[in-house]
Amino acid sequence: MSIFNLRSLIRVACPKRIAPYLEQEVLALGFNPEKVDDTGLQFHGTIQDCMKLNLWLRTAHRVLFLIKEFPATNPDDLYKVLVEIPWEEYIPADGYITIGSHVLEESIRDTRFANLRVKDAIVDRIAEKTAKRPDSGPLDDKTVLFLHWKEGQASIFFDTSGATLARHGYRQVPWKAPMQETLAAATILATGYDGTQNFINPMCGSGTLAIEAALIATNTAPGLMHSNYGFMHLIGYEPDVWKELRKDALTSVKEAPKGKIIATDIHGGAINAARENARLAEVDDIIEFKVRPFEETFLPANGGIMIMNPAYGERLGENDELVPLYKSIGDFLKQKAQGYMAYIFTGNMELAKVIGLKAKRRLEFYNANIDCRLLEYVLYQGSKRIPGGDKRGQEITEEVKPEDAPDDTIDLEL
Ligand SMILES: C[S@@+](CC[C@H](N)C(=O)[O-])C[C@H]1O[C@@H](n2cnc3c(N)ncnc32)[C@H](O)[C@@H]1O
Repeated sequence: MSIFNLRSLIRVACPKRIAPYLEQEVLALGFNPEKVDDTGLQFHGTIQDCMKLNLWLRTAHRVLFLIKEFPATNPDDLYKVLVEIPWEEYIPADGYITIGSHVLEESIRDTRFANLRVKDAIVDRIAEKTAKRPDSGPLDDKTVLFLHWKEGQASIFFDTSGATLARHGYRQVPWKAPMQETLAAATILATGYDGTQNFINPMCGSGTLAIEAALIATNTAPGLMHSNYGFMHLIGYEPDVWKELRKDALTSVKEAPKGKIIATDIHGGAINAARENARLAEVDDIIEFKVRPFEETFLPANGGIMIMNPAYGERLGENDELVPLYKSIGDFLKQKAQGYMAYIFTGNMELAKVIGLKAKRRLEFYNANIDCRLLEYVLYQGSKRIPGGDKRGQEITEEVKPEDAPDDTIDLEL
């Protein structure tokens, strides 16, 4: 039976704290998550659904397709069950497999041992049925399997993504302390940005936030930048089906967003990197790049969304040195950014206090394993409402002028 005719559990994995934004994306694609948890969500579907998810999701790390779930208390249990699965119908006998895993089992000290038993079972089964043995090793560019084994319960999946989706493929020129693409996309989705508002990204570094914003604004599927996925290395894969999905995605790309996208950084090297990365993402013509200290960033008068990711002392600079920077960010927001929804992404709440504005929301994220916040500041212009309204559907009724806000008003909700 071709795996492309099967329906099974699809598990979409993401980093911690990103699942609400992943859920938003999955719903928008027309799927209904049956369960959402810390590290992802799941629902039932087909490999063709996985293809669509791989193509469109901005905040996912991998899309897994369940083959079997079973009890197992030791590696031999794994082998016995897995050797009975008709792998020869799914995996090319002259192909190459790699096994990834998440194992929390008392009997297993080294996950490589569990992976080895999975590999043995698959290869032995295919060898017995076809007299050929697929190669195996660490490369994730062919058929990828994933073992989840915890407290006596094992699940074996095809990893239809192959290589992780965390990298969207355009960031080829590095700059200091870049945000992961999935995290940048999630923070932008959290702001409610949809391309109709201006999007201002001072301190843009390698340009991740501005590029992700441009991809969202133009409705560009991030998967268009990838040419190889795990599902392409399963028996029954039809390149024409993928071509059709890509064609649909290409025809739904919008030319230019209504709002402007402006990215600035004090370092020419950062702007060169950001411009080149944007060129690779094919959005360089819709982002205005300038070498500028953040205070001199041009802010269109009709307001919009501004997002900044200043250094926060973990990887760049030291806390004391950063105090004046955070203080001047506060001054900039108070004096020049009226009419904007401003967002500061930081992993240092002590420094955030120095901004001296009351955050309306403090959204929790992790950057790698650093506890971070996306701080939201609503900077009203006189008695006017935010131009374009609040895209998350929340009515903003109270009026907090920046200069009225007490200096040290950020609660530490850690
Ligand atoms: C943490 S990095 C931003 C990383 C970015 N989000 C990315 O994904 O690549 C902070 C950036 O702030 C820039 N920067 C530092 N001080 C600045 C200032 N006063 N004005 C403008 N940019 C500044 C640095 O050059 C650096 O690129």
